[in-house]
Amino acid sequence: MQNFTFKNPTEILFGKGTIAKIGSRIPADKPVLLLYGGGSIKRNGVYDQVRAALRNHPALHEFGGVEANPLFETCMQAVELVKGQKIGFILAVGGGSVLDAAKFIAAAVNYDGDPWGILQAHGQGLKSALPIGTVLTLPATGSEANGNSVISRRETQEKLAFGSPLVFPVFSVLDPETTFTLPRKQVRNGIVDSFMHVMEQYMTYPSQAPLQDRFAEGVVQTLIETGPVTLDNPQDYESRAAFMWSATLALNMLIGAGVPQDWSTHGIGHELTAFYGLDHAETLAIILPGVWRHQFARKKEKLEQYGRRVWGVDTAEQAIAKTEEFLKSLGMPVRLADYKIDVKEAAGKIRARFAERGTKLGEHGDIGPEQVAEIVLGRA
Ligand code: NZQ
Ligand code: ZN
Repeated sequence: MQNFTFKNPTEILFGKGTIAKIGSRIPADKPVLLLYGGGSIKRNGVYDQVRAALRNHPALHEFGGVEANPLFETCMQAVELVKGQKIGFILAVGGGSVLDAAKFIAAAVNYDGDPWGILQAHGQGLKSALPIGTVLTLPATGSEANGNSVISRRETQEKLAFGSPLVFPVFSVLDPETTFTLPRKQVRNGIVDSFMHVMEQYMTYPSQAPLQDRFAEGVVQTLIETGPVTLDNPQDYESRAAFMWSATLALNMLIGAGVPQDWSTHGIGHELTAFYGLDHAETLAIILPGVWRHQFARKKEKLEQYGRRVWGVDTAEQAIAKTEEFLKSLGMPVRLADYKIDVKEAAGKIRARFAERGTKLGEHGDIGPEQVAEIVLGRA
């Protein structure tokens, strides 16, 4: 096991009716910004629950319209509001995009220089951020209990991530009932994104971390069991609750402590969203099997372990086939052709991006532009 530091400061308020608890956790002596997305929270009653919980707060401001794959340009409008109103706390209510936007806004407010620099430096050197709390309405990203944020820039078609211990939420409300109104496609995306988060921290090479392996396998087994149930029965509280908690545990730092990590599927996937607008999870389902095939020899031992323990199959090849079958069973395409994307063009554009940035991906840090292009070409 590798050395690690583990700290997760986020308080989780899980279960029915827990939005009512936020009032006591939000400072009453500072103006608060309620940040939300395109309006789903107004249609499903979450907004009303939040307003009721904060009815006695003397200075509540709002900013709506954060888009899926939140834009830098939109976040910067919110930064102006935060500065103008001397906001001291941001409450993000929505999916991962709203939470990520809140983290970026919180970091940008007191940042010296162009805040895009926060993303270019991936959060290194960040000195301060406003505190944030969240009410999560979409289980998927794990943003509710981590220090990561992913922001896109329309102008340059870029999508970059940053991470900092300063932007872990102070608290996050996870009430499964707030997710009952999710469209089937978003539930599918959430199951797939959570599954991928586990795999990025697990599918590398054996590293003498038996507990982390069992945790990871437990999370994916739960997703495989409860995913299809919650997809078909959106109002079934218990399966939705199990899915919601799995999504948080998939990326709250626990399963990744002390183990090698990959993240190349996410790295390549972000480029597919930036260039072609695919949903985050859609990109991952295309790329993951490609990464596994490309890195087959190096991941073989772990693929075999996963195949044996999770799917009851004997070979690494069968483990990949089972995974693709699972993704497809959720209604998730696994090929670029399903989106009518020209594979050569995509490989070329993404190769150029990685060459320009000098990024290297993978648990060995040696997946460069050429390998990335090969992976993409394999996903026609
Ligand atoms: O905008 P509104 O109207 O709220 O609608 C949203 C949005 O259209 C809707 N929605 C959310 N909750 C709902 C609901 N509709 C009905 N009922 C509800 N209860 O769902 C749509 C998608 O929302 P979004 O927040 O974009 O989805 P998700 O949570 O999948 O977040 C995706 C973003 O997170 C980033 C992705 O790259 C992408 O930008 N990620 C963040 C990570 C992190 N912070 O750790 C890790 C991930 O790997 C990922 O990269
Ligand atoms: Zn993800």
